[in-house]
Amino acid sequence: MGGRTLISILLLFLCLSESTVVPGRKMRLHHPCKTLVLFFHDIIYNGKNARNATAAIIGAPAWGNKTILAGQNHFGDLVVFDDPITLDNNLHSKPVGRAQGLYLYDKKEIFTAWLGFSFVLNSTDYKGTLNFAGADPLMNKTRDISVVGGTGDFFMARGVATLMTDAFEGEVYFRLRVDIKLYDCWFVPLATAWEWQWVSPGHAKVLSDLNIPSCNKDWNGSLENY
Ligand SMILES: *[C@@H]1O[C@H](CO)[C@@H](O)[C@H](O)[C@H]1NC(C)=O
Ligand SMILES: *[C@@H]1O[C@H](CO)[C@@H](O)[C@H](O)[C@H]1NC(C)=O
Ligand SMILES: *[C@@H]1O[C@H](CO)[C@@H](O)[C@H](O)[C@H]1NC(C)=O
Ligand SMILES: *[C@@H]1O[C@H](CO)[C@@H](O)[C@H](O)[C@H]1NC(C)=O
Ligand SMILES: *[C@@H]1O[C@H](CO)[C@@H](O)[C@H](O)[C@H]1NC(C)=O
Repeated sequence: MGGRTLISILLLFLCLSESTVVPGRKMRLHHPCKTLVLFFHDIIYNGKNARNATAAIIGAPAWGNKTILAGQNHFGDLVVFDDPITLDNNLHSKPVGRAQGLYLYDKKEIFTAWLGFSFVLNSTDYKGTLNFAGADPLMNKTRDISVVGGTGDFFMARGVATLMTDAFEGEVYFRLRVDIKLYDCWFVPLATAWEWQWVSPGHAKVLSDLNIPSCNKDWNGSLENY
C-alpha cells in the first residue's frame, strides 16, 4: 500500500509540473485515453412479464397508459430501467454491472429519446460508475452521447459514448452496444479509494487555481505508457 501511495504521489507531481509549464492553457488529447465496449439489455414491462422486466413506464401522457408505450412514437413516455451490463451481446452472460437511469421519448414525429443513466460497474476489472447524458435519435445507426463524469476507477472521467441498437424485439426487448471513449483519464486505479481520499482535495484545488480542467494523461490502464 505504501509503495502504491508513493507512486501515486510521484505521478501527481509529475502531472502537475507538466501542467504548470503552460499555465492556463487547456490540454486536449484528440485520441481516447481509454476505450471500452459494453452491452446492456432492456426488457420493458408489457403487462405480462413482471418477473423478468428490467424497465417500467413510470410516466405516460394523458392519452396513454403505463402498460403499453403510447402512440405517436411514444412521445411523453418516461421509462426507468435497471438493466444488466454484459461484455458481449448475450443477455445471459455474467453481468459486470447495472445500467440504471431513465429514458424519455421527446418527439412526436420520429423516434427519439433523451437518456440519463449510470453504469454501475462491479467486476474484477472495474469498480466504479460512469454517468451518461444526451439525446438519442434512436433510428440512427450510431448516436453519440456524453460521458459527463465518473467515480471509483473512473474518477473524474469524461468522454463520448457511441450507442448502437444491437438488437430489438418488438416493444419488449432491446440491446444497446456502447462504445465508450474517454478523453479525460485520471490515474486513480493506481491508488485505492482510501489513498485517493487524501490526495484528491489538494489536487483538485491546484488544478482549479491553474484553470487547467484536468491532468490529462495518455492513460491506458497500466504504468507502461508513462
Ligand atoms: C493501449 O496500449 C496498447 C498496447 O500498448 C495499444 O495497442 C493501444 O492502442 C493502446 N490504446 C489506447 C487507447 O491508447
Ligand atoms: C422472460 O422470461 C420468460 C420465462 O422465463 C421467457 O420465456 C422470456 O423469453 C423472457 N423474456 C425475455 C425478453 O427475455
Ligand atoms: C394502454 O394503451 C394501449 C395502447 O395505447 C391499449 O392497447 C391498452 O388497452 C391500454 N391499457 C389500459 C390498461 O388502458
Ligand atoms: C460487488 O461484487 C461483490 C462480489 O460479487 C459483492 O460482494 C458486492 O456486494 C458487490 N457490490 C455492489 C455495490 O453491488
Ligand atoms: C441522424 O440521421 C439523420 C438521417 O440520416 C441525419 O440527418 C442526422 O444528422 C442524424 N443525427 C445525428 C444526431 O447523428
